[in-house]
Amino acid sequence: MRQKIVAGNWKMNKSLTEAQTLASEVINMVKDEYRGNGVMVLCPPSPFLGVVVNLAKGQPNVGVGAQNCHEKDSGAYTGEISTSMIKSTGATYVIIGHSERREFFNENDALLAQKVSKVLDEGLTPIFCCGEPLGIRESGNHIKFVKDQLSNGLFHLSDEDFKKVVVAYEPIWAIGTGKTASSDQAQEMHHELRLHLATKFGDISNDTSVLYGGSVKPDNAADLFSRPDVDGGLVGGASLKSRDFADIVKAI
Ligand code: 13P
Repeated sequence: MRQKIVAGNWKMNKSLTEAQTLASEVINMVKDEYRGNGVMVLCPPSPFLGVVVNLAKGQPNVGVGAQNCHEKDSGAYTGEISTSMIKSTGATYVIIGHSERREFFNENDALLAQKVSKVLDEGLTPIFCCGEPLGIRESGNHIKFVKDQLSNGLFHLSDEDFKKVVVAYEPIWAIGTGKTASSDQAQEMHHELRLHLATKFGDISNDTSVLYGGSVKPDNAADLFSRPDVDGGLVGGASLKSRDFADIVKAI
């Protein structure tokens, strides 16, 4: 069964106190107001993972995730964070291959393929991001571009491992710009991605959650999530405001 998920990627925002406030507010709102079976995932900056995990304890439909990890087990990699560290906080998800990691930290497909495997080996769930820049969309090659990102990042996995992967399609031109892909554009891409995943993983792809990210807001979430291949969202800016994020969760 495909799981409905709304994940909030806080990126590099919030102090410890602010993170506690945001997490408690949104957890309480969702506890009081959300009646569905979907999952809300909070992805705070890594220093706050443990604190947010504690606040989420006992909430059946709340998960916590990291925004990145290193591909190695441990060692002399100053400033990095390993999957075993993430696991030890109680977090269970890791965002991999966000366009900001690809662009600002030069993360390429080969590295991301290693990271995905590392996350799965640790027993965590990768949220694997893909998405095209504006120039590629305008050239008409966007579907091939994103399919290639999936082949390069995920096609080395076994069926058993792939079952645990969540995919997030985030067109770069829609991230933080206020320009959302229309629900038709999101549906078209998600459908194509699912067909592509099926060429390697067969029917398993019917059960893969494919999230949309890029300027998801309370006023466009319900329309996006109503489409058959859009299984929820990966939310940046709007996840920093408890009321907005809780309203987006309620739209899944
Ligand atoms: P915005 O929702 O701010 O566009 O960010 C999307 C995103 O990058 C989530 O990972």
